[in-house]
Order: sequence, then C-alpha cells, then structure tokens
Amino acid sequence: MSTLTDELTDVESSALAELERISDRDALEEWRVTWQGRRQGRLPKLLEQLPTLPIEDRREAGQLANRVRTALENAYEERRAVLEHASVSQRLSAEAIDVTLPGRRVPAGGLHPTTQTLREIIDAFKPMGFTVVEGPEVEWDYYNFEALNIPADHPARDQWDTLWLDIEDDDGKRPLLLRTHTSPMQVRIMEAQEPPIRVLVPGRVFRHEATDASHESVFFQVEGLAIDRGITFADLKGTLYAFARRMFGPDRRVRFRCDFFPFVEPGVDMAIDCFACKGNGCRVCSQSGWLEIMGAGMVHPKILQRVGYDPDEYTGFAFGMGPERIAMLRHGIDDIRHFYANDLNFLEQF
Ligand code: PHE
Repeated sequence: MSTLTDELTDVESSALAELERISDRDALEEWRVTWQGRRQGRLPKLLEQLPTLPIEDRREAGQLANRVRTALENAYEERRAVLEHASVSQRLSAEAIDVTLPGRRVPAGGLHPTTQTLREIIDAFKPMGFTVVEGPEVEWDYYNFEALNIPADHPARDQWDTLWLDIEDDDGKRPLLLRTHTSPMQVRIMEAQEPPIRVLVPGRVFRHEATDASHESVFFQVEGLAIDRGITFADLKGTLYAFARRMFGPDRRVRFRCDFFPFVEPGVDMAIDCFACKGNGCRVCSQSGWLEIMGAGMVHPKILQRVGYDPDEYTGFAFGMGPERIAMLRHGIDDIRHFYANDLNFLEQF
C-alpha cells in the first residue's frame, strides 16, 4: 500500500516541477499526455491500481489520488492560462504600430515649369477673349515660310534654319520640315475660318541650333492672332500691355521698338522694364533695364489677301513669345538647357 501513496506523492511533485519549466504550448500538451493522458498517462496508470488495494487502505489512497489529480488539473489550467496570455501579448507587441512614427512620403508629381508658364500666359489672355488651338509640329514649307512672305531665296530663312524631312516633291524640293515657329498656324487658322479671330497657339518648335545657355533646338512658343474689322496698332499695344501687367505685375512699363518680321507690317519687339532692378540695370537685364519678351506686329496685308480676306475690311495683329524665356526671367534660370535635361534637382524647385 505504501508504495502506491509514495508513488502518488512522487508523481505529484515531479509533474508539478516539470510543469514549472514549460514555456510553450506544444511542451504543455506533451506534459498533459505524459501525466494525465487517459490511457498511458502516469497518473491514470496509478489510479488503475486503486481497486487492487486492500479495502482498509483504499479510502486513504483514494483521497490522496483525488487531491493529486485536482492539483495536476489546476496546475495545468493555470499554466495554460499563463502561456496563452504570454502568446497574446507577444503577438500584440509584434503587431504593434508606432503611430508616432512620421509617415512615408508619397512623391507627388508636378507640372513642368514650361507647362506652368504656358498656362499662366493663357490665363492672362483668356479674359480678353482668346481661345487656344494647337497645330502640327511637322509642317509644310508653305505654311512655315512661303505663306508668311518668306520665299525660298529670302535671307530671313537663315534666321530659321531647321530640320527637313527626307521627303522630296516632283521638283526635288523638300517640302516638309519641323516648324521653326508657331506662326504657320496664323495662316492655317485664317484659311479655316472667317473673322473675328482671337486665338493663342502654344506649341513645340524646332531649330537647327548650336545649343548654348540661351539657345535650344527644341523649345516652346505661344503665338497670338487677332483679326477683325477696325483693329489698329493701338489694340496691339493695349492687349500686350494688359498681358504684361497680368503676367509681371501692375506696375510694369512696356517698350515697343521697331523690328522686322516678313509677315507683319509694322513689326515690333516688345520689352518690359526689368522687374529685378525696376529698370535701373542689373545682371538679369544685362544692364539695359529692359527685358525683350516677344515679337509682334500688324498682320501683313499680303498675308490677309493670300487667305482670301480683304485687307481694306479686316486688319489684325499677331505676336509670338517663348515661355522658357519668360520662365527664365521670372525665376532667374541661367540656362535654357535645364528645361530639357530632366534633372529632378531642377524640376522639383517649381
Ligand atoms: N514667329 C516669330 C519668331 O519666331 C515671332 C513673331 C510672331 C513675330 C508673330 C511677329 C508676330 O521669332
């Protein structure tokens, strides 16, 4: 008899000691099978012996057996709860998010400085009734030159040397080129519609250039054209003056000087007083106090005739400017080649 009670006490202390050292659920389950497992468990095995004891020992041994069984069950439950809690808090801390960490920045795109400037130019003319049209970048010699009073032998062609397409007509001439300015759209628009006309033509133009800080072979222009009855040079001046004040500030002064473009008569170059030095002379304006921002003039009567308008009935003005040049002046950009270099260090500043 004494052997069974000894063994029960022994099982109790060994099982409890072993349980103390258990730190994961698999080991706990193994422990349960070893000590309490219904068939092979060490405690149930001992309990099987109870009925074989002599009647007078059975009661005492039975009570001890019950106590050990409850002790093991309680200890097991307690351990299970502890491990459960530990694994939950482990998971919680593993999944924890530090809400005080700064977020990851999503890089936002932006409009190219040329596009921004184009939009500002368009916005400045819009209130005066101008709408926007675009034209082809590959253009006929006819529209780029001939129709604009620049025949094949005209010296003005030197000023607009360009890239010609490798296509010949029956006379062996190359009639297609990359447009050197947006002015060909003046003719296309007048051919396509009757006055009144008020349009802006933004677009890419191309020139055969040795590039440097102020010359690119690809750049943008914005053309303007207004045709109606009774338009005079005063309208040209008033319109461009209003534009300059909207674009560069209300205290801007403007200067018109004679200039030559074969498709206008008279032709002018328009300048604004330097906003960097207020006209006193500085680096931005090369000490002159003035910044030339566009060419303009009254549409040549021969061009009006060519598109079928009566120059005695209709007159108009045209102008053309380079948005990169305007952006360079406004932001103090020293090299036009930045606009096409695709350098984020440059682009991110706008
Ligand atoms: N097309 C001219 C140029 O590229 C600019 C211009 C446009 C001048 C319209 C007068 C009128 O230089």
